[in-house]
Amino acid sequence: MKNLYVLGLVASLACHSALAQTSSTTAPSLNDKPAFIADLMSRMTLDEKIGQLRLISIGGDMPLTRLADEIAAGRVGGTFNSVTRKDNRPLQDAAIQRSRLRIPMSFAYDVVHGHRTIFPIPLGLASSWDMDAITLTTRTAAIEASLDAVDMTFAPMVDISRDPRWGRTSEGFGEDPYLVSEAARAAVRGFQGTSPKNADSVMSAVKHFALYGAVEGGRDYATVDMSPMRMYQDYLPPYKAAIDAGSGGVMVALNSINGVPASANTWLMQDLLRKDWGFKGVAFSDHGAIVELIRHGVAKDERDAARLAIKAGIDMSMADTVYLEQLPGLVKSGDVSQKEIDNAVREVLSAKYDMGLFHDPYRRIGAAAQDPADVNAESRLHRAESREVARKSMVLLENRNNTLPLKKAGTIALIGPLADAHIDMMGSWSAAGVAAQSITLRQGMQKALGDKARLIYARGANVTGDEKIVEYLNFMNWDKPEVTQDKRTPAAMIAEAVKAAKQADVVVLAVGESRGMSHEASSRVSLDLPDSQRALSRALKATGKPIVMVLMNGRPLTISREREEADAILETWYTGTEGGNAICDVLFGDYNPSGKLPISFPRSLGQIPTYYNHPRLGRPFTEGKPGNYTSQYFEEVTGPLYPFGYGLSYTDFSMSDVTLSDTTLKRNGKIEASVTLTNTGRRAGETVVQLYIQDIAASVVRPVKELKDFRKVMLQPGEEKVVRFTIDEDKLKFFNAQLKYAAEAGQFNVQIGLDSVAVKQQGFELK
Ligand code: BGC
Repeated sequence: MKNLYVLGLVASLACHSALAQTSSTTAPSLNDKPAFIADLMSRMTLDEKIGQLRLISIGGDMPLTRLADEIAAGRVGGTFNSVTRKDNRPLQDAAIQRSRLRIPMSFAYDVVHGHRTIFPIPLGLASSWDMDAITLTTRTAAIEASLDAVDMTFAPMVDISRDPRWGRTSEGFGEDPYLVSEAARAAVRGFQGTSPKNADSVMSAVKHFALYGAVEGGRDYATVDMSPMRMYQDYLPPYKAAIDAGSGGVMVALNSINGVPASANTWLMQDLLRKDWGFKGVAFSDHGAIVELIRHGVAKDERDAARLAIKAGIDMSMADTVYLEQLPGLVKSGDVSQKEIDNAVREVLSAKYDMGLFHDPYRRIGAAAQDPADVNAESRLHRAESREVARKSMVLLENRNNTLPLKKAGTIALIGPLADAHIDMMGSWSAAGVAAQSITLRQGMQKALGDKARLIYARGANVTGDEKIVEYLNFMNWDKPEVTQDKRTPAAMIAEAVKAAKQADVVVLAVGESRGMSHEASSRVSLDLPDSQRALSRALKATGKPIVMVLMNGRPLTISREREEADAILETWYTGTEGGNAICDVLFGDYNPSGKLPISFPRSLGQIPTYYNHPRLGRPFTEGKPGNYTSQYFEEVTGPLYPFGYGLSYTDFSMSDVTLSDTTLKRNGKIEASVTLTNTGRRAGETVVQLYIQDIAASVVRPVKELKDFRKVMLQPGEEKVVRFTIDEDKLKFFNAQLKYAAEAGQFNVQIGLDSVAVKQQGFELK
């Protein structure tokens, strides 16, 4: 039997006939999915059905041999966190050879921004505004993950976040519904390829459904209370986009929504997801979320929690035994119907079917003889792809006196706690990426400079001098402590850095957050650079040397002071495996930066939320007028430090006024808005032309503007291009007070610009 399975193609036949053997009647064709699953379910006991709803984390309390026995007993449907063929093969063997019905297992993993090759964090990917680049990252990740026996990923994470205190801001694509929706689609396209059943595809499970990014105060796991209009308009579209793109799964959020935890929320899971959106895939709870219904205070015990979750429509319960232990009794007592169990089981089996596992349970495990000798072999990485995308993901925030690009000459002082930090290049959720394989900025510089210039390195500071914070960061769920402290005094480290700076022509200062600071459960009360790094920056400023600040962080930071201290600032987020090389490509001008912010940078913490597409106000702050009795904070300049959509280039662009093909748009008609973009500088470069729409008067308060389209345009020096956008009724639609999605007749402004603030505008009317 085993041999048949590992013989590749024959495996599917073997699996099918194995299933058929247990039935006295002829089994339906494997190609007839509904009939096949119905037949299989007709032969399952209640316990076997409930077993399929259990998703277990590898590396938890259960030894692997025991896990194999549990699988053989039909008490596990899938696992996550094991990512070698060698690890997953015996688990699949247990299901296929030893379980009564031989239902294949599925293997999942959090492949969020790369599998073995790590790409920039999603916030960085969004900064590229390049959807093909995003698809390239998820396609590459799917290829690598599927070669490691992974069938599905808990990604993309598409939670809109407008509060950078939230550590998981790093995992998402920013603050804007349109951009995040585009990114969601692009990501699913790459993960699933032409079909999740392909051997080189992984099924995606979009997360965290829903509204997780809106947790109160940016405090992880906090509650969400939100008007339906805002939900529909701003927060829900990205999940829907991923589902419409075919995402086979959904992971349910840990938070409650207007008083009902997502994991028990029948409105969310049934009415919206399944009925309104027509979602046909599988819904997973987040880690331990069903039991947490007790702590939310909506379930009195585990039995109650399991009842609420299964009734809401959570198909698989992650990392707990609550379904396994409670559902049999609940069915027996009639509190949960057989139909409710069947609905969940059908989704789980259906997802396995869609991943091609009934056709070949070993399609991503392969034959033992072909197992890689070294799973971390260099040859398994996609470095070129990683570098290409990383270059695109950086945002040039400042460049006074054309400090950048740097010359590969003279003496460069590379300073900062993140200049040589392998682990932090990777960002959080770096899957099976190996930190030692990442290129640090120091390594990248050594390579880029060779013997053309002298490089002096000094650490200058620890990421933070606060030992309690270090303890917290190291306590988190990493394999080993990853924030390592230099034991020298801060003064000694700064003195060394200042000495290095004094010998140099320019200082490159790599500062920001350790990756754990922008992670799950890493909410912050301050968005400043930690004091240790601020002191370093100040001391370097005093040397009078030009400073190029290279930021590594997973959320917008408040860098008003650093903006004054640095001559150039490059936001690199966390750039991944090829980070050091990619950053050098930008610093030395081998690549002209083209990234744009997918999230606004506030001036100070007190300004949050700072998102650009906020609702219109009766007393908006008006530039140039005394700000009395208008909406502002009186102690500070109004508006973000760097707006959404902002980012500089080494070349200059000029944009003409907006031309409209017509000033009247008929329903079902189209008009065209165009601008002429010219590269007026001396280098080839790309920029992002952004289209915003403002609804001048509607039945409800509308945002000041909304991104509706964008184009990334490459221009040679002196070259000009006409950039055209089509505006139709769809671009004007919104959810009104009755949650009806429609465009209302009236006046609109179309705004086009290279960021969300510096725009040119024309008006038109929808008739
Ligand atoms: C996170 C999810 C993740 C899951 C499994 C949870 O803590 O919230 O995003 O997919 O763990 O690793």
